[in-house]
Amino acid sequence: MELKQSVKISAKERRPDGLGKFYVDVVKGLSVNPKKLSSKYFYDSNGDNLFQQIMGMPEYYLTRCELDIFSNKTSELANIATAGLQHPIDLIELGAGDARKSRFLLRYLVEQGMDFTYVPIDISGNILSVLDKNLRTEIPSIDILPMEGEYFEMLDRASSLSARKKIVLFLGSNIGNMELAEAHVFCKRLNTTLNKGDVVVIGFDLRKNPATILGAYNDKSGITAAFNLNLLARINNELGADFDMSQFQHYQHYDPISGACRSYLVSLVDQEVTLADQTIHFSENELTYMEVSQKFSQTEIEQLAKSAGFNSLGILKDGKNWFVDAVWQVK
Ligand code: AVI
Repeated sequence: MELKQSVKISAKERRPDGLGKFYVDVVKGLSVNPKKLSSKYFYDSNGDNLFQQIMGMPEYYLTRCELDIFSNKTSELANIATAGLQHPIDLIELGAGDARKSRFLLRYLVEQGMDFTYVPIDISGNILSVLDKNLRTEIPSIDILPMEGEYFEMLDRASSLSARKKIVLFLGSNIGNMELAEAHVFCKRLNTTLNKGDVVVIGFDLRKNPATILGAYNDKSGITAAFNLNLLARINNELGADFDMSQFQHYQHYDPISGACRSYLVSLVDQEVTLADQTIHFSENELTYMEVSQKFSQTEIEQLAKSAGFNSLGILKDGKNWFVDAVWQVK
C-alpha cells in the first residue's frame, strides 16, 4: 500500500471489556449525537486493499496528481527542499507505505551524489520490510533506516539519533483527513519537534470544481462505499458487534465553501446494534460521520505554514493544478 498510517489493533485494544482503545473509541463515537467513527480505523488488511483499489479508480485523481509532481518535477522539488542544507541529511517519510512517489526523489538524490539516510516511518512493520527489500534492489547504494511506530514517537527517536538537518515528507493529502484545527496542531507539533532550518514537504489536495472532488469520493463502482462500510465489518470481526452492513448506505457530501468533503453512513432502517454489553440504537436515516477529506486553497496553505511557524520555500503543482506539494522550512 502507499502512504497511509494504518492503525493496527493490539490484543488489548480489541478487548470488548471497556479497556481497549479501539473499543472505547467506537463506543464513545456511537454514543454522541451526531454519531461518529474515526477513519484512522479504516485500514485493516481489507481496508488497505480497498484503499489500493481507490487509488486506481479513474475518479480518484489525488494519487496520480502527486505522482505527476514527484515523477516530472523531481529536480525542482529536490532543489527547493535541499537548498542550503548541509549534508549529510536525514530524509524522513511519515507513513511511507511502499514509497511509490518518494522513490523518484530518492533515486534522483542518489544519482546526484547527495549524502543522506532515508528514514521511512510506518506503523506497519510488514510494509517496511517489503519497502526496505525493494528499495535496496532498485537503488543499491541507498542508505535506509526503516522505523516502525507512531509518527511523532519515531520522529523524536530519529531526532535523538542524529543532529543532521532533516527533510520530512508527509504526502498523499493525509493532512486532509484531519479537521482543520487538528491539522494546525499537527503542523505546529511538527515545527516544534524539528529544528531551525529543517524542511517539510506536505501534500495538499486543492479546491477545484466541486463535481470533480465529489466524484473522487462518490465513485459509481461503489469502492469508496465499501471502504466506509468495511469499518462496520471490522467492528464486527474485532469487537464482536452485529452490524448488518446491508442496512447502512454510504453518503458523501462536499461543501465548496469550507472545502470539507465528508463521508457518512446512513442507517436505512430503525435498528439496534449490539457491541459487547452495549446496545446502540440507530434511527431510520440517522447519520454516522466517518471521514473528512479537507480541500485547501493556496492562501489557506500559506496561512497554515505561517501560523505553525514555517517559512514557505515554494510549492509544486501537477499539470492540472489540482494538487500541491508545499515545501516549508522551520524558522
Ligand atoms: C488517505 N486519504 C488521503 C484518503 C482521502 O482522499 O481522504 C482516504 C480516502 N477516503 C476515501 N477515499 C480516499
